[in-house]
Amino acid sequence: MMISQSCQLQLDYKVGSITMEFTLNLLPDQRCINFIDEIMNTYLTVYNLPHKRELCFVVHELIINAVEAMEKVKKSETESIQINVSQKNGEIIVTVIDHAGGIEEENWEDVFQFDLEKMTYSDRGRGLFFVKNMVDNIWFQHLSDTKFLVGISKKVTL
Ligand SMILES: Nc1ncnc2c1ncn2[C@@H]1O[C@H](COP(=O)(O)OP(=O)(O)OP(=O)(O)O)[C@@H](O)[C@H]1O
Ligand SMILES: [Mg+2]
Repeated sequence: MMISQSCQLQLDYKVGSITMEFTLNLLPDQRCINFIDEIMNTYLTVYNLPHKRELCFVVHELIINAVEAMEKVKKSETESIQINVSQKNGEIIVTVIDHAGGIEEENWEDVFQFDLEKMTYSDRGRGLFFVKNMVDNIWFQHLSDTKFLVGISKKVTL
């Protein structure tokens, strides 16, 4: 058992897959938002990665959406959200999982629409529009009836 595990590790290393990964499980409140903001800022600075402002903004928006969704279903004091950040083959992948039921598949395209011409400063409903324009890929996944994943990836090769 031990031998096959170490072979698998070596294989992963040779094909150059994940070079960095961390996962956080946090209660979805204001401290969680502040904490992730700090973590992303520090992570991107220490590893000297490009697109720092965009990546910090994107993750901030996804966390706020998850926190708001969890508040809506009154789970923010009892269930955590999970944030996974990994670096793989020159790109950063971030996933955020909450337990608030997510977005209906028929609305997935609509949530990315926003008319900049009609924008006012008090508008809402534009977070995912900006997020989509700042990343290479964004995807949604229903993991169960309540568990919902939002993922983004962005190339960080200099
Ligand atoms: N994790 C989520 N779970 C459930 N619904 C979500 C989630 N993320 C986004 N949504 C839905 O998608 C809509 C659009 O999200 P978006 O971030 O673009 O705008 P917003 O959060 O309403 O406003 P803001 O401009 O402040 O971000 C939200 O109003 C919400 O209905
Ligand atoms: Mg939002």
